[in-house]
Amino acid sequence: MRGTNNLIGAVNFITFVASIPILAGGIWLSSQANNTECLRFLQWPILIIGAAIFVVSLMGFAGACYRQTWLLQIYLFVMFLLIAALLGFIVFAFAVTDRGQGQVVVDRAFLEYQLTDYSGWLKDRVGDADYWAKISSCLRDAGVCSGMGRTVRDPATGTLVPESADMFYQRQLSPVETLKSGCCKPPTSCGYTYVNETLWNPSAAVVVNDPDCSRWSNDQQQLCYQCDSCKAGLLATLRHSWRKVSVINVVILIILVIVYVVGCVAIRNNKRMDNGETHGEARMTKARPSRFQF
Ligand SMILES: *[C@@H]1O[C@H](CO)[C@@H](O)[C@H](O)[C@H]1NC(C)=O
Repeated sequence: MRGTNNLIGAVNFITFVASIPILAGGIWLSSQANNTECLRFLQWPILIIGAAIFVVSLMGFAGACYRQTWLLQIYLFVMFLLIAALLGFIVFAFAVTDRGQGQVVVDRAFLEYQLTDYSGWLKDRVGDADYWAKISSCLRDAGVCSGMGRTVRDPATGTLVPESADMFYQRQLSPVETLKSGCCKPPTSCGYTYVNETLWNPSAAVVVNDPDCSRWSNDQQQLCYQCDSCKAGLLATLRHSWRKVSVINVVILIILVIVYVVGCVAIRNNKRMDNGETHGEARMTKARPSRFQF
């Protein structure tokens, strides 16, 4: 009968210990004065998630170890809300990432991405200027475009030189690299001249009305991070990576449901044990006076 309590206690002890570095990391982040916009954006979710795991685990741990039924009941109620929220999130994330494809460009091996191919809630969020400022700051922090450059050995001199335009045009970008196509180079329709992967000269001859062409900057900190193609690339990446993320979410969901069921059994066991003990104590209390009389 103590088995279920021990299991709940052990699980919550582990998550409690795990929440301490998360919480500490969040507090440390928020104490830094010169954080980038990306880190400021992330610090609140980290703090909230860390604090939530901390409190919930503490409740589950204390409830199981001291067999406090009321604590376990609050704990299970919070767990129920968590399970419902996670389930809602899984369905929601499938619903918001249902559309959108990369587009084939003539004479290019990689796909390009257009924001107009996407629709719905997620597109509106990504399209929001305030929100995009934070996301693009995170993309820059993560160095999305830093892996863009490739060098080849020049057969004449034997030294490493940047790849040629033709080599770049024939380059495959894997689905996880869709962000590079959208954020690290100007759209092909701009007709800019290749210098290296992240350096392009505007050509006056080609007139296009894609606003992304004027958003492109050769400043290596700017590039196309403000382009619609970058937003579309992010949406395409989210769509692609969704399957992996949802697998993780489903695994977490199953674990939460198991812990929830074990918690329910623990409460039932504790109630049964409490009843048993009350009878036992009652018998002892009755027996006690006679013992004290001696
Ligand atoms: C392209 O050239 C610029 C200027 O020389 C340099 O700063 C940048 O790192 C180069 N980009 C890549 C991807 O090598």
